[in-house]
Amino acid sequence: MPLHIIDQYSPAKGRINQQILLNRGQRLLKLLGCPDRLFSLVLLDDQTMADFNNRYRNINRATNVLSFPADDGDPFPGQPPELGDILISVDTARREAAQAKRSLHFRLTELIIHGLLHLLGHDHERSEEEALAMWEMEKDLMQQLCTSKRFLRRTTMPKLAINIDHVATVRQARGGTQPDPVLAAGICELAGAEGIVVHLREDRRHIQDRDIRLLRQTIKTKMNLEMAAVKEIINIALDIKPDMITLVPEKRKELTTEGGLDVIKNEKKLAKTIARMKKASIPVSLFIDPDAVQIEAASDIGATFVELHTGRYCDATTEQDRDKEFRLIEQAAELAFESGLRVNAGHGLDYLTTARIAALPTIEELSIGHAIISRAVFVGLDQAVREMLALVRPLSPGH
Ligand code: PXP
Repeated sequence: MPLHIIDQYSPAKGRINQQILLNRGQRLLKLLGCPDRLFSLVLLDDQTMADFNNRYRNINRATNVLSFPADDGDPFPGQPPELGDILISVDTARREAAQAKRSLHFRLTELIIHGLLHLLGHDHERSEEEALAMWEMEKDLMQQLCTSKRFLRRTTMPKLAINIDHVATVRQARGGTQPDPVLAAGICELAGAEGIVVHLREDRRHIQDRDIRLLRQTIKTKMNLEMAAVKEIINIALDIKPDMITLVPEKRKELTTEGGLDVIKNEKKLAKTIARMKKASIPVSLFIDPDAVQIEAASDIGATFVELHTGRYCDATTEQDRDKEFRLIEQAAELAFESGLRVNAGHGLDYLTTARIAALPTIEELSIGHAIISRAVFVGLDQAVREMLALVRPLSPGH
């Protein structure tokens, strides 16, 4: 491993995801053309950093990053030469991240880039020109790191899971028995869908308890139960044991799930639900906006998946806005993948917006409902599913 992390930062102040930093350090060395070099990353608090700053630079206060290039002589013949040590104060990085409205790991990455450039001999204090060149390099490296797909390849095709809530919506409009979502699930599976999603809302506006109990017995692929983290629904989930659950925020008056979960604000409740589900071997996905801070929080509390909210990308009214929203999803998906989370996406996807999201190499599964059920009114459910599958898996034979 070309990067050695020495974490002396108190875990009580917040966990650092070492895997993210190891991946990024490795990728940075490659981008800088020195994949065989080694460096150490030391994570400290402000107090320890102030001690180092005082000892080596006579400045008696903490700073964000210090670099100590290794001596030229190589003490271990045969080993790749050490670049040196980068010391980072996590306390300062955290403050700077909050100020810039960035995630902690984003700021830590910026500081690693800065430190690495110093270890490679760049200096922003020698002249204005060098300072500008170094700043440009830092920006460029961060950009490459955020968009490089070389290391982040999914090995399988993305999957299509179909949300059949709106079959139940039509049924509930008359309060009768038709159309039956249980039958719809079977048709979706026969057409090639690899999962069925149902949202058992507290207000039971579409899917009913009877539906999920029958679906549990009939679904042959994978049953994903969407739900709020509330006692009544948690107990039902633990009773019927779906293949996974997706936790979503739920408001009584919303037409559909409006935004992603605020994982930080609801950390305690979500962590407790995840722990209960883990005990029952039910993996949990958190439905969140494509936001680095939420992703890191999801990883910290032990979620298995995140489902990235694609609503803003789908609702964008200009090409520019859609591109901007797409980039956010792309970067969020890579960050989540790097953090060890499995990545799904969904909400609002239709026959025009899906292909681009499905092509992202880190996304495992798409959850799509309304567009497919709407199209099914005109062409039938089997055909509507097959048409969507052709967009999700364009190279797949038979679609
Ligand atoms: N994912 C989540 C978390 C949702 O709440 C929904 C809507 O129920 C979907 C995906 C599917 O969205 P749509 O029906 O717009 O395809």
